[in-house]
Amino acid sequence: MRIAVIGTGYVGLVSGVCFSDFGHEVVCVDKDPRKIERLKKGEIPIYEPGLETLMAKNVEAGRLSFTLDLAEAMADAEVVFIAVGTPTRRGDGHADLTYVMAAAEEVARIAKDYIVVVTKSTVPVGTNRKLAAVVAAANPDLDFDVASNPEFLREGAAIEDFMKPDRVVVGVESERASKVMSDIYRPLYLRDFPIILTDLESAEMIKYAANAFLATKITFINEIAALCEKVGADIKQVSRGMGLDGRIGNKFLHAGPGYGGSCFPKDTKALARIGQEHACPMLITEAVIKVNEDVKRRMVDKLLDLSGGSFNGQTIAVLGVTFKPNTDDMRDAPSLTLIPAMLGGGGCVRVTDPQGRHEGERLLPGVEWLEDAYLAAQGADLLVILTEWNEFRALDLERLATGMRTARMADLRNIYAPADVIKAGFIAYEAIGRRGASTA
Ligand SMILES: NC(=O)c1ccc[n+]([C@@H]2O[C@H](COP(=O)([O-])OP(=O)(O)OC[C@H]3O[C@@H](n4cnc5c(N)ncnc54)[C@H](O)[C@@H]3O)[C@@H](O)[C@H]2O)c1
Repeated sequence: MRIAVIGTGYVGLVSGVCFSDFGHEVVCVDKDPRKIERLKKGEIPIYEPGLETLMAKNVEAGRLSFTLDLAEAMADAEVVFIAVGTPTRRGDGHADLTYVMAAAEEVARIAKDYIVVVTKSTVPVGTNRKLAAVVAAANPDLDFDVASNPEFLREGAAIEDFMKPDRVVVGVESERASKVMSDIYRPLYLRDFPIILTDLESAEMIKYAANAFLATKITFINEIAALCEKVGADIKQVSRGMGLDGRIGNKFLHAGPGYGGSCFPKDTKALARIGQEHACPMLITEAVIKVNEDVKRRMVDKLLDLSGGSFNGQTIAVLGVTFKPNTDDMRDAPSLTLIPAMLGGGGCVRVTDPQGRHEGERLLPGVEWLEDAYLAAQGADLLVILTEWNEFRALDLERLATGMRTARMADLRNIYAPADVIKAGFIAYEAIGRRGASTA
C-alpha cells in the first residue's frame, strides 16, 4: 500500500512512521520547510519517546521519506491522510477547518486516479461530507472516497498507542474505501485490536465524545478535590477509593492544576459549539470548560496564599511547563496561565523543564531558564511542581530546601507526602485536595 500523509506534527509524523513500520510505503509531506529539512536529516522536530529510532529504521528500509511537494508524495498513492492542525477558531470556539479544507483541495487538484482521502485530524461532525464536496468541486472528474479515521494517541506514549490501540475507528461509505482502510490496518486486525467500521458522522462523533468524556472525568475529580480541601478529606484516598470501582476506573482521576494540551481545550470548545449550532446544548461539556478555567484560577490563589498574599519581590521556582510529562507540547498548558500571573504580580520566575524550553522561551517571556530543579530552586521563596516529569518525582528534598531563601512548596501534582517535605526542612507545603503542612 502506498500512503501519503499530509502534516508532520504529533499525529502525522507518528502515523507516517507507524504505517511504514506496518510495511506500507509512506511519504510524509509538510509545508514547513524547516520541519522537512530536519526530517530528511533524520531529526524529529518534536519530542516523542522512541520516534526517532523507529523513523530511522523505516527510512533505512526504504519505506519512509519526506518531502515538501504534495504531488511527489501522492505519486501512485492509493490513499492520502490529512493530519493537519484544527485549532480553535478565534472568537467562536469552532474548530478552524482552513488547513484541512486547503489540504483537501490541493489533493483534489493533484489526484488523477481513484484515491481515498482520509481525515485523521479531529474535525466536527459533518466535516467529512463537506470535505467530499470540496474535493468534488475542485476536481469534478476525480474518482474518490472520503474516510474518517480519528486518532486517539497520547503524546508521550504515541507509538505504543498507535501500535497497540484500544480501538481503531474508521468511518466509510463505500465497500472500496472500506477495503483500502482494512488493508492499511490489517497488521492490527490480525493481532485482534478492535477496528470499528462505521459511518462518517459516528466516527467524527466518537472522537469528540471520547475527549469530552475524559476532560469531564479530570474536571470532576478536580472539583471534588476543591471540596476535599474544605471538608478535610484527602483526594488521593478518594481517587483510589473511586478508581478501584471497575465501573469508574482509575485513569484520568488524578487531581491537578486543570487540563491543558493540544486536544482537550479545543475539542471541548468545538463540541460545545457543535451542540449550540444544532440547538442541542452540551451543558455538561460547557460546565467542564468553565470549571477547568476556575481550577486554574484557584491555583493562582493557592500560590498567592502560600506567598503571603503577594508575588511581589518573591522568587518562584517552577518545575515543569509542558502540559504533561514526556512531551515538549506547550499548547494550552496550565503554565501559560500560572506563570504570567506570577510575573504580573511582580514575582521573579525561574523555570526548568526537561523538554519545554524550546517552545517555552517563546511563550513565556520574562522567565529565567535553569538546567535542573536544584539550580532553579537556588535562592527561591517558593517551589511549584507543575508537571510531573519523572525527574521531579524523587528529588533530594533536603538539598532543595537548603538552597532556598524561604523553603515553601506547592505540589500541584500531589507527588510528595506532606510529612516528608516538612521533615526535609520546608516550612510550608500545599498540595491539591488534601491537607497541607507547615512548621508554623
Ligand atoms: N497532538 C495530539 O496528541 C493529537 C491526538 C489526537 C488527534 N489530534 C488531532 O490531529 C490533528 C493534528 O494535530 P497535531 O498535534 O499533529 O498538529 P501539529 O500542529 O503538531 O501539526 C500539524 C502539521 O500540519 C502541517 N500543515 C498544515 N497545513 C498543511 C498543508 N496544507 N500541507 C502540508 N502540511 C500542512 C503544519 O505545518 C504542521 O507541521 C489535529 O486535528 C488534532 O486535534 C492530535
